[in-house]
Amino acid sequence: MTSHESTKGGRSGPEEKRLQGHWLLAKMGKRVLRPGGVEMTRRILKAAAPASSDRIVEFGPGVGKTAEYLLAASPARYWGVDVRKVDDNPMDDVIAGHPHAELVNADARATGLPDGCATLVVGEAMLTMQSNDGKSDIMREAYRILAPGGRYALHEMGFKPDTPDSAVAAVQKSLSQTIKVGARPLPMAEWARLLEGAGFRVEFTTMNKMALLEVRRVIADEGLLGALKIASNVARNPAARKRIFAMRRTFKRHQQYLCSVGLVAVKP
Ligand SMILES: C[S@@+](CC[C@H](N)C(=O)[O-])C[C@H]1O[C@@H](n2cnc3c(N)ncnc32)[C@H](O)[C@@H]1O
Repeated sequence: MTSHESTKGGRSGPEEKRLQGHWLLAKMGKRVLRPGGVEMTRRILKAAAPASSDRIVEFGPGVGKTAEYLLAASPARYWGVDVRKVDDNPMDDVIAGHPHAELVNADARATGLPDGCATLVVGEAMLTMQSNDGKSDIMREAYRILAPGGRYALHEMGFKPDTPDSAVAAVQKSLSQTIKVGARPLPMAEWARLLEGAGFRVEFTTMNKMALLEVRRVIADEGLLGALKIASNVARNPAARKRIFAMRRTFKRHQQYLCSVGLVAVKP
């Protein structure tokens, strides 16, 4: 997989040294790039219940694992809105053969989609990387494109409820340095407060471990064969291995504070 942004700015050296963590993992073959794994995705989709009558917008579909689940419901429409365009993205194969599915290369803050066009918006592991204002902007855009009664299902990184305030900024800084993208998890109550501030009513919440790079989770998310392929790709790429091990160490170091959160909110 190659990315359109990989040579921007005249930066040199192997791409593995500077790719955002999730795109580095995708390059190694990983398809599930969210903190609570497929298990958390299933929980929020069970609560949001995608159906054939739905018009679905997915924010930040990445390499399209959740798009597979959403398209399995044969929705009336599906738009995948991602700010980054990547060559050879498995997402292209996922939507091929679905005549009502399309990819929109846009920022989720301003999708360009019409008011009230959607009945379900889904976004995973894409708000955590925004500032709080950026999170609210995206939530307001979800609100704008949803019809009344529409659902917004989210899956993001969270802080466990007992995380001391003093740890929050330090963990955010440490994660951001390692992943090479701003990582700003929030406690569940803060996620809910932002959603309510954008006009939503929160109807469902759930929490899970943040275990993105733990062996057991990787096998659960990618299957044994997928996990072995990823392991083999990583083993043959020293620059990628160094970064992914550093990410794993950082997640482990902060595991007492980190979790994943899932929420489903409704536009009244
Ligand atoms: C960590 S990946 C998660 C991918 C996928 N949702 C998953 O959970 O496996 C974040 C995704 O969000 C996209 N993204 C980040 N900021 C975005 C924005 N402002 N608007 C649209 N997409 C965005 C990235 O390009 C990437 O595809």
